[in-house]
Amino acid sequence: MTARELRPLGEALGTEALGVDLSKPLDSETFAWIEDAFAQHPVLVFRDQDLGPGELAVFGRRFGAPKIHSLVDYRHAEFPEVSWLTNVDKDGNTDWFGVKRATDWHTDSPYEEVPPRLAILHAKEVPSSKGGTMFADMRGAYDSLDAAMKQRLAGLVGLHGRHDGPAGVRLYEGDPEQNLDRKYTEKARPAVIRHRVTGRPILFVNPLHTHGFEGMAKDEAWTLIEQLGEHSTQDRFVYYHAWRVGDVLMWDEQATMHRGAGDYRPDERRVMLRTIVYPN
Ligand code: OGA
Ligand code: MN
Repeated sequence: MTARELRPLGEALGTEALGVDLSKPLDSETFAWIEDAFAQHPVLVFRDQDLGPGELAVFGRRFGAPKIHSLVDYRHAEFPEVSWLTNVDKDGNTDWFGVKRATDWHTDSPYEEVPPRLAILHAKEVPSSKGGTMFADMRGAYDSLDAAMKQRLAGLVGLHGRHDGPAGVRLYEGDPEQNLDRKYTEKARPAVIRHRVTGRPILFVNPLHTHGFEGMAKDEAWTLIEQLGEHSTQDRFVYYHAWRVGDVLMWDEQATMHRGAGDYRPDERRVMLRTIVYPN
């Protein structure tokens, strides 16, 4: 293997980490190198990997605590902390929920008691073109807000539910209920949080899950959520990851929002393994 090295992929986000073989047990020095890189670069990509679900689970556990995935039907049968991100159902037909799922801007599960720290996708099959995942830099998005907006957000607490933000209502309207293993109530979280390592401020509002702010009328809140969503997803904050088979991509669930680009032919297979990691 070549020496370890970081190489930028996008202007805003996206960093390739070269010289790491994730199928081998990670020594503490390599692990520390990854953690350092990840603190600065919240979308980190390892190319040409070939991990089974068990190996992906082991890699994820280095960063925190695993959790059994809440969408029962997408859980991996042997490794329940690993789930499938797939557009193919059990019979080999197009899974339309899988095609549409998560194609609007969000961060994963901010409505859980303790929200996830990071998530990891490992591409197994990718469409012949497009089918990427997009990431928005919520540190840069915060920094570039004007002073009046920063002041307005300073005291605000967002309310996060399952899919009841403005984009959630649009995206999942009319979909059959998914088979979930638990019930969720909404969670209140400050609109501006700090990065766990660098302390940088992060805008923590997303149009899929954030459906209000404490003490604010719904109309005003929805207008603000949509406005912040548009601001944060301008091209200058966004990285489009074009998947290659073998990619292992980890992203920071606080510092970024993401979405499936939803721009590929749904009859082409798009299959990935996924694990989500919670703070220890
Ligand atoms: C995710 C996610 C979108 C996609 O894995 O959490 O939102 O289709 N993925 O790439
Ligand atoms: Mn997601």
